Amino acid sequence: MSTQEIKKKYPKEILQAKDLKGLDLVWKKYLGRKGEINKILKNLKKLSGKERINLGKEVNQLKKEIAEKIEKKKRILEKKIFKVAVKKEQVDVTAPGKKFPQGYLHPLTQIIREVEEIFQSLGFLVAEGPEIETEYYNFDALNVPENHPARDLWDTFWLRGSQKIPNSKFKTRLLLRTHTTSVDIRYMEKNNPPLRIIVPGRIFRHEATDASHDIQFYQLDGLMVDKDISVANFKAIIEIFFQKFFKRPIKMRLRPSFFPFTEPSFEVDIDCLVCQGKGCSICSGTGWIEVIGAGMVHPAIFRAAGLNPKNWQGFAFGMGIDRLAMMKYKINDIRLFYGGDLRFLNQF
Ligand code: DAH
Repeated sequence: MSTQEIKKKYPKEILQAKDLKGLDLVWKKYLGRKGEINKILKNLKKLSGKERINLGKEVNQLKKEIAEKIEKKKRILEKKIFKVAVKKEQVDVTAPGKKFPQGYLHPLTQIIREVEEIFQSLGFLVAEGPEIETEYYNFDALNVPENHPARDLWDTFWLRGSQKIPNSKFKTRLLLRTHTTSVDIRYMEKNNPPLRIIVPGRIFRHEATDASHDIQFYQLDGLMVDKDISVANFKAIIEIFFQKFFKRPIKMRLRPSFFPFTEPSFEVDIDCLVCQGKGCSICSGTGWIEVIGAGMVHPAIFRAAGLNPKNWQGFAFGMGIDRLAMMKYKINDIRLFYGGDLRFLNQF
């Protein structure tokens, strides 16, 4: 390239360089070791005295000019880069804040707390027991001996291993409790009547799952023991509970039933919340929904707990907490409670 060509080309190229890398290429092309300026300087020797002096001056001048212009452009580009970086780091104090997701209670926990509060206002204490239970407390002490057909009422998850029965030389097998009724015995062994307890807790059934059955769910067992307890007391307590829980007057009926730990035993129905007793698909057209298994405490239960059945009377009942939640919130599949799907859980 001649000096004329260089003078014509380089200003445009500097102008077109968009970043430091591009500018560096221009610098190399003209001022680098193998650049255009050096090429001319190398050829100077071949020229005669005067020509050499003139061209030498010109080229050196040009070299200076190019270097200055590149330096100038470099400062402009650096300023731009700095501005972008500053902008990136700037905090916009007017921007709306980011919300942190807040945890809250599972719908079943909310229901359990609500149920506990109502029963506590009626003088009941909350009792607890282990989820891994012995065959003794889950069945034998509740008047359900081995090989008794009543055991078929509960499909049981049996565990390996066994435990010594207190004050006896016998061992008892272990299982996942099929109801929280086992805690009634545990409590009566340690506490003398009169007593009023509720036992909310997780229970397990070895069953196929569907919209209304799961292998685990929550149950509330209740027990009231005193000198003169009758079915009338039970009816009154349960009626108040449902009215407070569903926040409306309810109709209730008792049907005879069977449980090994109560005599007599009955099933409690309330009028269907969805159709108000007219009959719909939820209540299979009957207008009634079964909510509780209950009865008067069987003398064998008192005996198992070390109490004299001649001195004490009581009622006991068991209800499904998931079922209550499903009725209250009109949920049609019990498995939703255990799926951990936030689209479901966020609605409560
Ligand atoms: N434990 C029974 C069940 O799981 C329910 C039940 C019935 C509990 C009668 C009671 C009762 O305390 O008295 O099916």
